Amino acid sequence: MSSDEWKRQAAEQALAHVEDGMKLGLGTGSTAAKFVELLGERVKAGLKVICVPTSEATRAQAAALNIPLATLDEYPALDLTVDGADEIDEDLRLIKGGGGALLREKIVAVASARVIIIADSTKLVDVLGRFPLPIEVVPFGLGSSRSLIERLAADSGCEGEIKLRTAPGGAPFVTDNGNHILDCSFGEIDDPEALDDALKLVPGVVESGLFLGIADIGIIAGPKGVETLSAIESDFEEEE
Ligand code: 5RP
Repeated sequence: MSSDEWKRQAAEQALAHVEDGMKLGLGTGSTAAKFVELLGERVKAGLKVICVPTSEATRAQAAALNIPLATLDEYPALDLTVDGADEIDEDLRLIKGGGGALLREKIVAVASARVIIIADSTKLVDVLGRFPLPIEVVPFGLGSSRSLIERLAADSGCEGEIKLRTAPGGAPFVTDNGNHILDCSFGEIDDPEALDDALKLVPGVVESGLFLGIADIGIIAGPKGVETLSAIESDFEEEE
């Protein structure tokens, strides 16, 4: 089975959590797109849901499938968000933003009662950081923001190349919010919470791609089948 098929398997299992009448957040990326595709089939068959997309790309995909769309201004609290991730650890901590949608993804996820992350097993890591950490920054003062990120990240034990993400033509990549992305190759991030706290001190940083304490369930599909990670279960295990 290919990674594409694993993504679809994870998306199929996430669909089982969707109920009639729900307000849903729709993630961004190739895995989330599989979920949107399957959701579109259910909507066509009569399922009633209202969805808030996390990017213009997802908005376009969902609109083409006639999935009813709304904004967080209309529905500030959602029942469930289903999204992908670039990396996921056993504690359901994530790196997101490979697709550049991390800010809207985090806003939508935090507005949701439950967050399900769907991924193929290549995304599962022992320690976050193999995937360069995306950080969304405002264009103004980019050089200063980059230097400050470098300094504060080093204080929390993270060092490595920080690259301004570029679009296919070579110009800086621009997010749906008009910002840029710095991709930080820090390697293993031993203390994601400390790094995230440090990044919040940089005025030009809009958001980091560290999603900590946000995901409730991880549905991971791979050669050994589909594995479900649950935040509640891991808390329970820790208590025992
Ligand atoms: C977009 C994201 C995506 O969820 C992440 O990049 C995973 O994408 P894919 O499912 O294509 O591997 O965070 O900002």
